[in-house]
Amino acid sequence: MPATAGEGRRPWWRTAVVYEVYLRSFADSDGNGLGDVNGLRGRLAHLVDLGVDAVWITPWYPSPMADGGYDVSDYRDIDPRVGTLADVDALLAEAHAAGLRVVIDLVANHTSAEHPWFAAAVAGGPGAPERARYFFRDGRAGGAEPPNDWISAFGGRAWTRVTEPDGRPGQWYLHLFAPEQPDLDWDDITVQEEFDDILRFWLDRGVDGIRVDAAPAMAKLPGLPDAGHRPGALFESSAWVDNPHWDVDEVHEIFRRWRRIGDTYDGDRLFVSEAVVNGPERLSRYVRPDELHTTFNFDYLKAPWDAGSIRAVIEGTLAALAPVGAPATWVLSSHDETRHVTRFGRVSSGAATMGFDASAPADLELGLRRARAAALLTLALPGGAYLYQGEELGLPEVEDLPEEVLQDPTWERSGRTARGRDGCRVPLPWSGDRPPFGFSADGVQPWLPQPESWRGLTVAAQREDPSSTLSLYRDALRLRRSLHGLADDAPLTWHEVGPDVVAFDRGPAFRCVVNMSARPLPLAGLGRPVLRSGDDGDALPPDTAAWLVTG
Ligand code: GLC
Repeated sequence: MPATAGEGRRPWWRTAVVYEVYLRSFADSDGNGLGDVNGLRGRLAHLVDLGVDAVWITPWYPSPMADGGYDVSDYRDIDPRVGTLADVDALLAEAHAAGLRVVIDLVANHTSAEHPWFAAAVAGGPGAPERARYFFRDGRAGGAEPPNDWISAFGGRAWTRVTEPDGRPGQWYLHLFAPEQPDLDWDDITVQEEFDDILRFWLDRGVDGIRVDAAPAMAKLPGLPDAGHRPGALFESSAWVDNPHWDVDEVHEIFRRWRRIGDTYDGDRLFVSEAVVNGPERLSRYVRPDELHTTFNFDYLKAPWDAGSIRAVIEGTLAALAPVGAPATWVLSSHDETRHVTRFGRVSSGAATMGFDASAPADLELGLRRARAAALLTLALPGGAYLYQGEELGLPEVEDLPEEVLQDPTWERSGRTARGRDGCRVPLPWSGDRPPFGFSADGVQPWLPQPESWRGLTVAAQREDPSSTLSLYRDALRLRRSLHGLADDAPLTWHEVGPDVVAFDRGPAFRCVVNMSARPLPLAGLGRPVLRSGDDGDALPPDTAAWLVTG
């Protein structure tokens, strides 16, 4: 176990850089083409060398994989395709010995349709007590129409009709995600108590933190009134106000309950929520002192590459979180979003929601230049940061996956119009000059095909090259631990340089400058550069950033 914060020291999660391991695409140890727990154990050295503080591991529970493991059929076990509980115990011991914390993913808004609870609910028929754990309702129009107008994050309506035990079409059940992911009713005390116990199961095992999946979905307005969605509406959680199935105020009771459990453990255990909501003020409610500790900051992820937008998001985030005393987190990519090398190479460089990103041409050279600058920006901001596996290699989105390999439910649910999120989930390239690039043993086909063009982007190809993206991340993470201002998490003060430049100081001696303008920015008088995302020279080229020591 890494040393816990002593008295007077800040908890680790206030400044941690957490690396997201999308488990099935990280490293495959047993040759089935899917990444697994032992694959991760075998690659911990990469994470230590990179210099992150913790890993967040996406769901590893037994799952029919209708949504890549976010459909859980048993919360207290590991899917045999990715490992065993004994492997997890070994992982926890090895990660802790290497100084890495481990955050797991808890999917509590919904179970898998193959969870024994849901099977019992369907089998029990209308009125069965097992149905009270989910949202089973009679349909409208004599049963033929769904009970309300709610929609699914993956497209289409959020209700599916069951066939009752007598063979007739019957009630409908709610699923804000795929039909294979029925929503739990968190007003039901047996649901609450079951998850209390699941939390303890994992905290007792020694995990350092828990990511709360789809947090704003977990409470629904009583009576389940229509949301007023227009026909064909998409899930736009960052725009919704007073929505009956998203960010409903009662959701916070659940997190208060969980915090009380977390607080009975030693070692600064962390709760981090995945909460896409309407603006930083709504977000700050998830991290009030008696709720979760931190939350992903999707406004930052969604901001387009322009100085005004980025500065506004940073200011808005810091201003909203200050009153509740929670640290910010900064995140650019995840297993749900178009990789930012590709996003930043587009004319409209902001992110869309859940892979509903219309493919537009991307200039990947420009995108990579901006992504490298964005890494220095992200790692210089106050608070913590989340890195998504592969961003340290500068991986782009894979936009030309053949249709027949697509697995994200978005693809089918959108009537094959939105390709979904598979393009950011392609297995990592570790070494060698052809697929599977060390992800699996030679000759094995990974669950999604890797582009041949990734041969220059493998970890092995970048490790010894001082100009590689991997080296940039490694250097930044080292300096983050040693430079005054960063290491001591000093507050941010803006430094005015020009309209298309984001520049700020942390403490008396550290400055970060990001040139988002179309012209080179002279560095004279700004400080002594200690790390740059682009070429050396007297000026900072467009779309590059520098860390400088001042004074
Ligand atoms: C979260 C996950 C996403 C998943 C969804 C449903 O948004 O990050 O991958 O599809 O929840 O569980």
